[in-house]
Amino acid sequence: MNGFPDVRLRRYRQTQRVRDVLRMPAPAPNRFIWPIFVIDGDGTKSAIDAMPGQSRLTVDLLAAAIEPLVVRGIGGVLLFGVVEAGKDEIGSCAHRDDGIVQRAVREIRSQFPDLLILTDVCLCGYTTHGHCGVLNTSGAVDNDVTLAALARMAVSHARAGADGVAPSAMMDGQVQAIRRELDNGQFINTLIMSYSTKFASALYGPFREAAKSAPGSGTRASYQAPYDDRRQAIRESMLDVDEGADILMVKPALYYLDILYQIRQKTELPLAAYQVSGEYAMAIAAARAGYGDQNALARESLVALCRAGADLIITYWANQYATIFPETSAS
Ligand code: PBG
Ligand code: ZN
Repeated sequence: MNGFPDVRLRRYRQTQRVRDVLRMPAPAPNRFIWPIFVIDGDGTKSAIDAMPGQSRLTVDLLAAAIEPLVVRGIGGVLLFGVVEAGKDEIGSCAHRDDGIVQRAVREIRSQFPDLLILTDVCLCGYTTHGHCGVLNTSGAVDNDVTLAALARMAVSHARAGADGVAPSAMMDGQVQAIRRELDNGQFINTLIMSYSTKFASALYGPFREAAKSAPGSGTRASYQAPYDDRRQAIRESMLDVDEGADILMVKPALYYLDILYQIRQKTELPLAAYQVSGEYAMAIAAARAGYGDQNALARESLVALCRAGADLIITYWANQYATIFPETSAS
Protein backbone atom coordinates (compact mmCIF):
# COMPACT_ATOMS: atom_id res chain seq x y z
CA MET A 1 0.00 0.00 0.00
CA ASN A 2 2.93 2.32 -0.45
CA GLY A 3 2.49 3.36 -3.99
CA PHE A 4 0.56 3.31 -7.18
CA PRO A 5 -1.95 1.88 -7.98
CA ASP A 6 -3.11 1.67 -4.34
CA VAL A 7 -2.05 5.18 -3.53
CA ARG A 8 -3.63 7.82 -5.72
CA LEU A 9 -3.23 11.39 -4.55
CA ARG A 10 -5.74 12.48 -7.14
CA ARG A 11 -8.45 11.05 -4.84
CA TYR A 12 -7.89 14.13 -2.73
CA ARG A 13 -8.54 16.35 -5.69
CA GLN A 14 -11.54 14.79 -7.42
CA THR A 15 -14.30 16.94 -5.98
CA GLN A 16 -14.69 20.37 -4.56
CA ARG A 17 -15.99 18.74 -1.35
CA VAL A 18 -12.77 16.88 -0.72
CA ARG A 19 -10.58 19.74 -1.85
CA ASP A 20 -12.48 22.04 0.50
CA VAL A 21 -12.09 19.89 3.56
CA LEU A 22 -8.37 19.42 2.98
CA ARG A 23 -7.61 22.98 1.97
CA MET A 24 -5.04 24.80 4.07
CA PRO A 25 -6.34 27.99 5.67
CA ALA A 26 -5.66 31.22 3.81
CA PRO A 27 -3.29 33.55 5.65
CA ALA A 28 -5.37 35.67 8.00
CA PRO A 29 -5.44 39.45 7.55
CA ASN A 30 -3.63 40.06 10.82
CA ARG A 31 -0.45 38.72 9.24
CA PHE A 32 -0.33 41.49 6.64
CA ILE A 33 1.51 44.79 6.90
CA TRP A 34 0.72 47.54 4.39
CA PRO A 35 3.56 49.90 3.38
CA ILE A 36 2.41 53.51 3.02
CA PHE A 37 4.22 56.46 1.42
CA VAL A 38 3.56 59.74 3.19
CA ILE A 39 4.13 63.18 1.67
CA ASP A 40 3.95 66.77 2.82
CA GLY A 41 0.95 68.92 2.07
CA ASP A 42 -2.80 68.66 2.32
CA GLY A 43 -5.49 66.76 0.52
CA THR A 44 -3.13 65.16 -1.97
CA LYS A 45 -3.20 61.59 -3.21
CA SER A 46 -0.51 61.20 -5.83
CA ALA A 47 -0.62 57.99 -7.82
CA ILE A 48 2.58 55.97 -8.17
CA ASP A 49 2.77 55.07 -11.86
CA ALA A 50 4.99 52.06 -11.39
CA MET A 51 2.75 50.65 -8.63
CA PRO A 52 -0.89 50.72 -9.68
CA GLY A 53 -3.18 50.68 -6.65
CA GLN A 54 -0.63 52.52 -4.48
CA SER A 55 -0.33 56.26 -3.85
CA ARG A 56 1.60 58.79 -1.89
CA LEU A 57 -0.71 60.32 0.68
CA THR A 58 -0.68 63.49 2.73
CA VAL A 59 -1.13 63.06 6.46
CA ASP A 60 -4.76 64.23 6.42
CA LEU A 61 -5.72 61.43 4.01
CA LEU A 62 -4.15 58.58 5.93
CA ALA A 63 -7.09 57.77 8.19
CA ALA A 64 -9.52 57.35 5.31
CA ALA A 65 -7.11 55.05 3.47
CA ILE A 66 -6.40 52.90 6.51
CA GLU A 67 -9.88 52.70 7.98
CA PRO A 68 -11.28 49.94 5.70
CA LEU A 69 -8.19 47.81 6.37
CA VAL A 70 -8.52 48.21 10.12
CA VAL A 71 -12.14 47.10 9.80
CA ARG A 72 -10.97 43.92 8.07
CA GLY A 73 -8.36 43.24 10.72
CA ILE A 74 -5.08 44.13 8.99
CA GLY A 75 -1.97 43.47 11.06
CA GLY A 76 -0.38 46.87 10.73
CA VAL A 77 1.18 49.56 8.58
CA LEU A 78 4.78 50.39 7.70
CA LEU A 79 5.44 54.07 7.05
CA PHE A 80 7.86 55.62 4.57
CA GLY A 81 8.44 59.36 4.42
CA VAL A 82 8.83 60.95 1.00
CA VAL A 83 10.34 64.41 0.98
CA GLU A 84 10.93 66.81 -1.89
CA ALA A 85 12.34 69.79 -0.05
CA GLY A 86 14.71 69.77 2.88
CA LYS A 87 17.07 66.96 1.92
CA ASP A 88 20.69 67.46 2.90
CA GLU A 89 23.95 65.52 2.93
CA ILE A 90 23.24 63.87 6.28
CA GLY A 91 19.47 63.43 6.14
CA SER A 92 18.72 65.79 9.05
CA CYS A 93 15.00 65.93 8.34
CA ALA A 94 14.73 62.21 9.11
CA HIS A 95 14.79 62.73 12.86
CA ARG A 96 12.82 65.92 13.33
CA ASP A 97 9.87 65.67 15.69
CA ASP A 98 7.79 67.53 13.10
CA GLY A 99 9.11 65.36 10.25
CA ILE A 100 6.76 63.68 7.84
CA VAL A 101 6.82 60.21 9.40
CA GLN A 102 6.64 61.57 12.93
CA ARG A 103 3.51 63.56 12.05
CA ALA A 104 2.00 60.58 10.24
CA VAL A 105 2.56 58.34 13.27
CA ARG A 106 0.85 60.82 15.59
CA GLU A 107 -2.11 61.18 13.23
CA ILE A 108 -2.58 57.42 12.75
CA ARG A 109 -2.16 56.77 16.46
CA SER A 110 -4.80 59.34 17.30
CA GLN A 111 -7.28 57.79 14.86
CA PHE A 112 -6.52 54.10 15.50
CA PRO A 113 -5.20 53.58 19.03
CA ASP A 114 -4.98 49.82 18.55
CA LEU A 115 -3.34 49.63 15.12
CA LEU A 116 0.26 48.38 14.91
CA ILE A 117 2.41 51.19 13.48
CA LEU A 118 5.89 50.42 12.18
CA THR A 119 8.27 52.91 10.59
CA ASP A 120 11.11 52.50 8.10
CA VAL A 121 14.40 53.74 9.50
CA CYS A 122 16.86 54.64 6.76
CA LEU A 123 18.40 57.82 5.39
CA CYS A 124 18.06 57.30 1.62
CA GLY A 125 14.75 59.16 1.36
CA TYR A 126 16.24 62.15 3.21
CA THR A 127 19.74 62.56 1.79
CA THR A 128 20.60 64.58 -1.31
CA HIS A 129 22.85 61.77 -2.56
CA GLY A 130 20.20 59.10 -1.96
CA HIS A 131 22.45 56.68 -0.10
CA CYS A 132 21.20 54.91 3.01
CA GLY A 133 23.87 56.43 5.24
CA VAL A 134 26.15 59.39 5.77
CA LEU A 135 29.10 59.68 3.37
CA ASN A 136 32.72 60.16 4.41
CA THR A 137 35.07 62.56 2.65
CA SER A 138 35.87 60.05 -0.06
CA GLY A 139 32.19 59.51 -0.80
CA ALA A 140 31.80 56.09 0.82
CA VAL A 141 29.00 55.33 3.25
CA ASP A 142 30.43 55.67 6.76
CA ASN A 143 28.99 52.84 8.80
CA ASP A 144 29.62 54.03 12.34
CA VAL A 145 28.66 57.66 11.77
CA THR A 146 25.44 56.44 10.21
CA LEU A 147 24.55 54.40 13.30
CA ALA A 148 24.02 57.51 15.41
CA ALA A 149 21.76 59.06 12.77
CA LEU A 150 19.66 55.90 12.49
CA ALA A 151 19.35 55.59 16.26
CA ARG A 152 18.24 59.20 16.56
CA MET A 153 15.67 58.70 13.81
CA ALA A 154 14.33 55.57 15.49
CA VAL A 155 13.93 57.34 18.82
CA SER A 156 12.01 60.18 17.17
CA HIS A 157 9.61 57.63 15.66
CA ALA A 158 9.15 55.93 19.02
CA ARG A 159 8.52 59.30 20.65
CA ALA A 160 5.81 59.98 18.09
CA GLY A 161 4.10 56.74 19.08
CA ALA A 162 5.37 54.02 16.75
CA ASP A 163 5.07 50.48 18.11
CA GLY A 164 8.13 49.41 16.22
CA VAL A 165 10.96 50.66 14.04
CA ALA A 166 12.29 48.88 10.99
CA PRO A 167 15.91 49.69 10.17
CA SER A 168 16.59 49.06 6.46
CA ALA A 169 19.97 50.72 5.89
CA MET A 170 22.01 47.51 6.19
CA MET A 171 24.68 49.12 8.37
CA ASP A 172 26.62 46.73 10.59
CA GLY A 173 25.54 47.17 14.19
CA GLN A 174 22.39 49.15 13.42
CA VAL A 175 20.08 47.00 15.51
CA GLN A 176 22.34 47.21 18.54
CA ALA A 177 22.77 50.98 18.17
CA ILE A 178 19.04 51.51 17.87
CA ARG A 179 18.21 49.20 20.80
CA ARG A 180 20.63 51.08 23.06
CA GLU A 181 19.30 54.48 22.14
CA LEU A 182 15.68 53.36 22.48
CA ASP A 183 16.42 51.94 25.90
CA ASN A 184 18.27 55.11 26.94
CA GLY A 185 15.16 57.06 26.03
CA GLN A 186 12.95 54.71 28.08
CA PHE A 187 11.48 53.14 24.96
CA ILE A 188 12.13 49.66 26.25
CA ASN A 189 8.95 48.29 24.68
CA THR A 190 9.51 49.63 21.17
CA LEU A 191 9.97 46.71 18.81
CA ILE A 192 12.78 46.44 16.31
CA MET A 193 11.77 44.70 13.11
CA SER A 194 15.10 44.46 11.39
CA TYR A 195 15.46 44.25 7.64
CA SER A 196 17.89 41.58 8.68
CA THR A 197 18.61 39.98 5.31
CA LYS A 198 18.14 42.65 2.68
CA PHE A 199 19.64 41.94 -0.70
CA ALA A 200 21.09 44.34 -3.25
CA SER A 201 18.22 43.62 -5.61
CA ALA A 202 17.00 44.82 -8.99
CA LEU A 203 13.45 44.59 -7.63
CA TYR A 204 13.40 47.92 -5.78
CA GLY A 205 12.95 50.13 -8.86
CA PRO A 206 9.28 51.09 -8.45
CA PHE A 207 9.83 51.86 -4.75
CA ARG A 208 12.71 54.20 -5.51
CA GLU A 209 10.45 56.06 -7.89
CA ALA A 210 7.70 56.17 -5.27
CA ALA A 211 9.99 57.25 -2.43
CA LYS A 212 12.28 59.42 -4.56
CA SER A 213 15.16 57.61 -2.92
CA ALA A 214 17.32 56.30 -5.76
CA PRO A 215 21.06 56.84 -5.21
CA GLY A 216 22.31 59.75 -7.31
CA SER A 217 25.43 57.84 -8.22
CA GLY A 218 26.75 54.39 -7.45
CA THR A 219 24.79 51.45 -6.10
CA ARG A 220 23.94 50.00 -2.72
CA ALA A 221 26.31 47.08 -3.20
CA SER A 222 28.64 48.23 -0.41
CA TYR A 223 25.93 47.74 2.20
CA GLN A 224 23.12 45.51 0.91
CA ALA A 225 23.80 41.76 0.80
CA PRO A 226 24.90 39.96 -2.38
CA TYR A 227 22.06 37.73 -3.54
CA ASP A 228 24.36 34.98 -4.74
CA ASP A 229 25.81 34.27 -1.28
CA ARG A 230 23.55 32.07 0.83
CA ARG A 231 25.87 31.92 3.83
CA GLN A 232 26.27 35.69 4.19
CA ALA A 233 22.51 36.00 3.89
CA ILE A 234 21.99 33.69 6.86
CA ARG A 235 24.73 35.38 8.91
CA GLU A 236 23.12 38.78 8.35
CA SER A 237 19.94 37.65 10.07
CA MET A 238 21.68 35.69 12.81
CA LEU A 239 23.83 38.70 13.74
CA ASP A 240 20.66 40.74 14.14
CA VAL A 241 19.32 38.12 16.55
CA ASP A 242 22.43 38.69 18.67
CA GLU A 243 22.06 42.47 18.42
CA GLY A 244 18.56 42.29 19.84
CA ALA A 245 16.18 42.29 16.90
CA ASP A 246 12.62 41.34 17.85
CA ILE A 247 11.47 40.42 14.35
CA LEU A 248 13.63 39.34 11.41
CA MET A 249 12.94 39.95 7.74
CA VAL A 250 13.91 38.65 4.35
CA LYS A 251 13.66 41.10 1.47
CA PRO A 252 12.81 40.68 -1.42
CA ALA A 253 10.55 37.72 -0.80
CA LEU A 254 9.67 35.38 -3.63
CA TYR A 255 13.16 34.85 -5.08
CA TYR A 256 14.45 34.10 -1.58
CA LEU A 257 12.21 31.36 -0.24
CA ASP A 258 15.29 29.23 0.45
CA ILE A 259 16.71 31.90 2.73
CA LEU A 260 13.37 32.44 4.43
CA TYR A 261 13.04 28.72 5.06
CA GLN A 262 16.58 28.35 6.38
CA ILE A 263 16.25 31.29 8.76
CA ARG A 264 12.93 29.80 9.90
CA GLN A 265 14.82 26.60 10.84
CA LYS A 266 17.56 28.48 12.70
CA THR A 267 15.62 30.75 15.03
CA GLU A 268 12.36 31.00 16.91
CA LEU A 269 12.07 34.73 16.29
CA PRO A 270 9.08 35.97 14.33
CA LEU A 271 9.99 36.27 10.67
CA ALA A 272 8.67 38.72 8.10
CA ALA A 273 8.87 38.52 4.33
CA TYR A 274 8.87 41.81 2.41
CA GLN A 275 7.32 41.34 -0.98
CA VAL A 276 8.87 44.34 -2.66
CA SER A 277 7.74 46.86 -5.23
CA GLY A 278 9.25 45.01 -8.19
CA GLU A 279 7.46 41.80 -7.26
CA TYR A 280 4.18 43.69 -7.03
CA ALA A 281 4.75 45.60 -10.27
CA MET A 282 5.71 42.45 -12.19
CA ALA A 283 2.49 40.68 -11.24
CA ILE A 284 0.40 43.66 -12.29
CA ALA A 285 2.31 44.07 -15.54
CA ALA A 286 1.81 40.39 -16.34
CA ALA A 287 -1.91 40.59 -15.58
CA ARG A 288 -2.31 43.71 -17.68
CA ALA A 289 -0.54 42.05 -20.58
CA GLY A 290 -3.04 39.20 -20.32
CA TYR A 291 -0.55 36.65 -19.03
CA GLY A 292 -2.35 35.81 -15.80
CA ASP A 293 -5.08 36.74 -13.36
CA GLN A 294 -3.89 39.47 -11.02
CA ASN A 295 -5.59 38.21 -7.87
CA ALA A 296 -4.50 34.64 -8.56
CA LEU A 297 -0.91 35.77 -9.09
CA ALA A 298 -0.99 37.73 -5.86
CA ARG A 299 -2.60 34.93 -3.91
CA GLU A 300 -0.18 32.25 -5.05
CA SER A 301 2.83 34.36 -4.16
CA LEU A 302 1.47 35.24 -0.70
CA VAL A 303 0.60 31.65 0.14
CA ALA A 304 4.11 30.62 -0.97
CA LEU A 305 5.67 33.04 1.51
CA CYS A 306 3.58 31.62 4.35
CA ARG A 307 4.43 28.05 3.36
CA ALA A 308 8.15 28.87 3.39
CA GLY A 309 7.86 30.16 6.95
CA ALA A 310 6.89 33.83 6.97
CA ASP A 311 4.83 34.87 9.97
CA LEU A 312 4.31 38.39 8.71
CA ILE A 313 4.00 39.56 5.15
CA ILE A 314 4.81 43.11 4.20
CA THR A 315 3.12 43.61 0.88
CA TYR A 316 1.49 46.25 -1.29
CA TRP A 317 -1.31 43.74 -1.82
CA ALA A 318 -2.34 44.27 1.81
CA ASN A 319 -4.79 46.99 0.82
CA GLN A 320 -6.43 44.50 -1.59
CA TYR A 321 -6.64 41.60 0.87
CA ALA A 322 -10.41 41.29 0.58
CA THR A 323 -10.36 40.67 -3.18
CA ILE A 324 -7.34 38.39 -3.04
CA PHE A 325 -8.70 36.21 -0.22
CA PRO A 326 -12.48 36.63 -0.54
CA GLU A 327 -13.44 33.57 1.55
CA THR A 328 -11.57 34.84 4.61
CA SER A 329 -13.31 38.16 4.38
CA ALA A 330 -16.86 36.82 4.01
CA SER A 331 -18.19 38.11 7.30
C1 PBG B 1 15.09 51.98 1.91
C2 PBG B 1 14.16 50.92 1.45
C3 PBG B 1 14.05 50.38 0.16
C4 PBG B 1 12.96 49.51 0.21
C5 PBG B 1 12.47 49.53 1.52
N1 PBG B 1 13.24 50.40 2.28
C6 PBG B 1 14.73 50.65 -1.11
C7 PBG B 1 16.16 50.50 -1.28
O1 PBG B 1 16.88 49.82 -0.52
O2 PBG B 1 16.62 51.12 -2.24
C8 PBG B 1 12.44 48.73 -0.95
C9 PBG B 1 11.01 48.36 -0.87
C10 PBG B 1 10.39 47.97 -2.15
O3 PBG B 1 11.01 47.86 -3.22
O4 PBG B 1 9.17 47.75 -2.10
N2 PBG B 1 16.30 51.53 2.37
ZN1 ZN C 1 17.80 53.21 2.43
